[in-house]
Amino acid sequence: MLQGCARVGLVVGLVMLQLVAGCGRAGDSEATGGRAGGGLPAVASGVDSQPALLSAAGPAGTAQGQASGAAVAGAGKPAYPIVRYVSVDQLPRDLVIFDSVFWEPDDTVSLRQKIAADSRLRGAAVLEVGTGSGLVSLCCLQAGAGSVVATDLNPAAVENARENCRLLGFGDRLDVRRVPRRSPGAWTVLQADETFDLIISNPPWEDQRPETVEQFALYDPGFELLESLVTGARQRLRPGGRMWLAYGCVTAIRQIQKVADRERLEHRLLDERRLEDLPELFLPGLLIELTVPAGK
Ligand SMILES: C[S@@+](CC[C@H](N)C(=O)[O-])C[C@H]1O[C@@H](n2cnc3c(N)ncnc32)[C@H](O)[C@@H]1O
Repeated sequence: MLQGCARVGLVVGLVMLQLVAGCGRAGDSEATGGRAGGGLPAVASGVDSQPALLSAAGPAGTAQGQASGAAVAGAGKPAYPIVRYVSVDQLPRDLVIFDSVFWEPDDTVSLRQKIAADSRLRGAAVLEVGTGSGLVSLCCLQAGAGSVVATDLNPAAVENARENCRLLGFGDRLDVRRVPRRSPGAWTVLQADETFDLIISNPPWEDQRPETVEQFALYDPGFELLESLVTGARQRLRPGGRMWLAYGCVTAIRQIQKVADRERLEHRLLDERRLEDLPELFLPGLLIELTVPAGK
């Protein structure tokens, strides 16, 4: 499969490339399809791109049957149509993806591997900014995080993350909060004194203006969210805490490095790829770690 085409895919030529290459197929483990159109079902093809409600349970034992059965038992009809059923290696059962909610697991391959292997996550207090389907937050809980606060400004994403949390049985360890569109900073829905051991985000990567709620998954005008994340790290990280950001945009990563230097934060790329060798937009996303230097 051609990697790197999906998130970039709002460029018409690359969307064409994606369609030709068969990206956007859903239903397989680690199936891709989100970056083109921010998870818009129009790009996805295949059986599970058809909107369906949880109450329309699939056959028992199938992915759709499992997801439907659990959700019906737990909460009844969901607030938004399901457009696909997906699975990733790190989670023991399928997730559901609601209409308009971002799905591109290639964004967070390194991030999810890092989470699964990180012994310091056990019992940790985690914040995820921009949770989408809840994918990364749920991986943190699966890896033993004590609690996760997850935010999103797409109302469907907020409900989607809650639904997937119910499906996985993590109860109240996940606290999903909706960010108002009029004040989209990284910290808007946090209490003044809330701090975390780990702050993670796979935010929008490109400096463009979003026009629809789906496009907030892709576009961060003026890199305002990026700036907000990095400038707030010092205040929101507990001593020894870490911020992990997943980005697949060279300009955005250079901007993170610049703002982190300004804020006197330590930063390093947790990746063997060199920025100089990468195209402007690429997949899988690259992980950047920010920490507050000891004693500063
Ligand atoms: C690229 S998607 C990532 C979703 C999910 N974390 C994942 O990896 O699948 C970015 C998400 O951030 C959300 N978002 C954009 N701006 C935001 C903000 N200011 N605060 C919270 N969430 C935001 C979008 O709605 C979208 O769900």
